[in-house]
This record gives sequence, C-alpha cells and structure tokens, in this order.
Amino acid sequence: MKKIAVYTSGGDSPGMNACVRAVVRTGIYHDLDVYSIKYGYDGIINGNISKMESHSVSNILQRGGTILKSARSNEFRTKEGRKKAYDQLTKHGIDGLVAIGGDGTFTGAKVFYEEFGIPVVGCPGTIDNDIYGTDYTIGFDTAVNTALEAIDKIRDTAAAHDRVFFVEVMGRDSGYIAVECAIGGGAEVVMVPETITTSKQVSDYLKNLRESKTSSIVVVAEGDEEGDAATIMAKVKSEFVGEEEKKFKVTTLGHIQRGGSPTAKDRLLGSRSGLAAVEGLLNGKFNCMAGIINDQVVYTPFDDCINKNKPLNKDYLRLQEILSI
Ligand code: F6P
Repeated sequence: MKKIAVYTSGGDSPGMNACVRAVVRTGIYHDLDVYSIKYGYDGIINGNISKMESHSVSNILQRGGTILKSARSNEFRTKEGRKKAYDQLTKHGIDGLVAIGGDGTFTGAKVFYEEFGIPVVGCPGTIDNDIYGTDYTIGFDTAVNTALEAIDKIRDTAAAHDRVFFVEVMGRDSGYIAVECAIGGGAEVVMVPETITTSKQVSDYLKNLRESKTSSIVVVAEGDEEGDAATIMAKVKSEFVGEEEKKFKVTTLGHIQRGGSPTAKDRLLGSRSGLAAVEGLLNGKFNCMAGIINDQVVYTPFDDCINKNKPLNKDYLRLQEILSI
C-alpha cells in the first residue's frame, strides 16, 4: 500500500479533525502518500481529492466540525455512482481508504469493498455513540458535555420559576446522550427509544413529585417512541389544570450538540482511532472499524458494526431513576 485517502461522511462530530490529523500524520510517518477527500462519498465521485502534508493538518486538533466537510451522498447509493468513485480512486492511484463516520458511512464502505475490493478501515465518528465495536464514538463526550451545560442553565431558570422543562437532545435511534446528560444534570425523568415510557407515566410521576420538588427536568431523546419533546410535553401538560398547566416549557437543543471544541476524551479517541485505522490498513485489516474497547484498539468487521445492536447500559437507567426521587 502506497497511497491512502481519508474522508468524513454523515453527521459531523467534534473530534473528527483530531482523527483526520492522526490519519494524515500516521500515514506520513509510515512513508505513505496521504490524500484527503472533501464532502465524503460525493467527493470521491467528483474527484475532490488532494494531497496532504503534515502541515495541512496543523492547528485543527482543537476545532469542531470537519475540515474535510461532510455530506450524505445519494449518488453513492447507486452502482453507477460507486463505479465513478472507483474510477476516480484508480485515476489517483489510491489503494486504501480511511472512512470516518457512523453506520451509514460504514454501510457505504462495506458495499464499496465488496464490489471493487478497495480496502477500507473505519473510525467511529458520530455523536450518537450507537456503533457496535467501540465503547465510545468520537464526538459523543463533547455532545454530552454541551447538552449538560445547557441543562444546568435550564435548571437555574426552571428552579427560579417552579417550572417543568422538557429538554430534547439528539439521538435519532439511541438514548446514549439523553441518559448520560440526565444523570449528570440530575434530571427527574429520561425518555429514550430503547425503553417504553408513556406520557401518562411521566405525568403521574411528576404529580407525585409535587410535594418534594417545585421544578423538574425531563430529558427526551429525539428518537423516543412517544414523539418529540414538544409533542410529549403537550400530552403531559394536558393532565394538569389551572396554574400548574402554565408551568410547562420545552427546549430543543438541536445542532449545538454537534459543534464546539472537542473534549480531551474526544481528541484522544479520534487520535487513537485514526492511528489504528492506518496501521490496520498496513497490516491487512480491511472492511472493519478501529474502535476502542476497554482501552484497547479492537478491529470489528463492518458487518457487525452495522448490524449488531449496542444496548444501553441498563445500570445507567436504574441509576437515573433512583437518584431522581
Ligand atoms: O447521527 C448524528 C445526528 O446528529 C443524530 O443525532 C441526528 O438525528 C442527526 O444526526 C441529524 O442529522 P442532520 O444534521 O442531517 O439533520
């Protein structure tokens, strides 16, 4: 292997830049030519490919977002699109790829490897922490801390006005962000897609708390089966009357969770995973992701990363519930 390329794809996450930097510098350290691809799979198709030097990744470690940009490519979902991508890589003589992203990114990489034999190793980049084969994903820790900071602020105003706030955090299919910031923020209730909690249960619970607490926080993962935070809040609110009904508010944190300077944990994870991906390619580990489990690098086949479920730690849910009384 002489020439490799790196790209970021899907939703960006803080720490992706640390990972890009690690890929570029590890590649150069091992005498490889390293290229960057901008805009993910669209960038491969369109030949948005350029040579990287060590200094190309200077001063990016501390920045959120991704210097390589990101996109969700529809064209790459087609065989014709992937053939165009293969032709571009052949033209540039690229014989290995590092894909930084989530399960959508790895699904694309897996199909591409199976059809055209281009070796790919992935790095887990998503704030959702929903990828099998790694304890944490790059960006999750930063997103949790961003959400937590917001919840602390909401708590102040909730307490001042004796209000109940429904705070929606990201996590399309997973409650990782919700659970960790519910514990850290001392939320009274957390609602996640992995468990069923009805609006009626929430309103009953909040009514019971009335004697002991004048304000409450309900953290809702955006993918919760009961709906988004505004919908759930409306249902819960309808169970209250008079002055109590006026206590309910909703805040959707949204994309602020995707940005910001990565925490030390995310910089470290991005750096370790980037290095491991390049050395994986050099050691013949293809079609897999370089994750970290129990502080050790582990290569997990894309098939497992995509298809195996990474369950929420039930101890966390229990902890939140016990401490919210
Ligand atoms: O997968 C990461 C994520 O931030 C999810 O938590 C969220 O549902 C989704 O991306 C939002 O995607 P977009 O930025 O395309 O709206």
